[in-house]
Amino acid sequence: MIRSATPEDIDALVRLEAIFPGDRMSRQSFRRLLNRDSASILVYEEDSEIIADSVVLYRRGSLSGRIYSLVVHPRAQGRGIARALLKAVESAALGKGCTSLRLEVRADNHAALALYAKSGYSPFAQINNYYQDHTPAQRLRKLISL
Ligand SMILES: CC(C)(COP(=O)(O)OP(=O)(O)OC[C@H]1O[C@@H](n2cnc3c(N)ncnc32)[C@H](O)[C@@H]1OP(=O)(O)O)[C@@H](O)C(=O)NCCC(=O)NCCS
Repeated sequence: MIRSATPEDIDALVRLEAIFPGDRMSRQSFRRLLNRDSASILVYEEDSEIIADSVVLYRRGSLSGRIYSLVVHPRAQGRGIARALLKAVESAALGKGCTSLRLEVRADNHAALALYAKSGYSPFAQINNYYQDHTPAQRLRKLISL
C-alpha cells in the first residue's frame, strides 16, 4: 500500500534511510518536511512495515517538483516497488499542479538511471563534482500529465 507519511513513520523512515550511504535524511529533516506544504513524503507499506519511501519537494511559483529521495529496502528491490512509487509520486505532483518532475542522480547509479529511463525521465544536464566524493550528478526530468 502506498500512502502519505505521518509523524508516526519517522523512526521507520530514518531506519530505512540509514541503510543507504551518502546524503541521508535526518529525523529533523523528516519532521520539518512533514509539516510543510512544500514537501510530500510517500511510503510503501507492506505487512505493517515501511519498505520504501520517496520525498518530493515543491517550490512556490514553480510548476516543477523535485524528487529529492527515493529508496527501496534492499530485500524488497527488483519487485517493481520503485516504479509503483514513482507513479504515485507523479500523481501527487499533478495534484499539486506540477507539469514536470526533475531530480539529480549519481552518474554511477546504474539501477536508478535504468529505473528513471524506463519510467520516461530524460537527462538534460550533468553537474560535475556534485557529490561529496566528486561523482557527477545526472539531472533528469519528465513532463507529467493525466
Ligand atoms: C534504484 C532503486 C530505487 C530501484 O528500486 P526497485 O524497487 O528495485 O526498482 P523496480 O523493481 O521498480 O525496477 C524498475 C526498473 O528499474 C530498473 N532497475 C532497478 N534495479 C535495477 C538494477 N539493480 N540494475 C539495473 N536496472 C535496475 C529496471 O529497468 C527495472 O525494470 P525491469 O524490472 O522491468 O527491468 C533501488 O535500487 C534503491 O533503493 N537504490 C538505492 C537508493 C537509490 O539509488 N535511489 C535512487 C536515487 S534518487
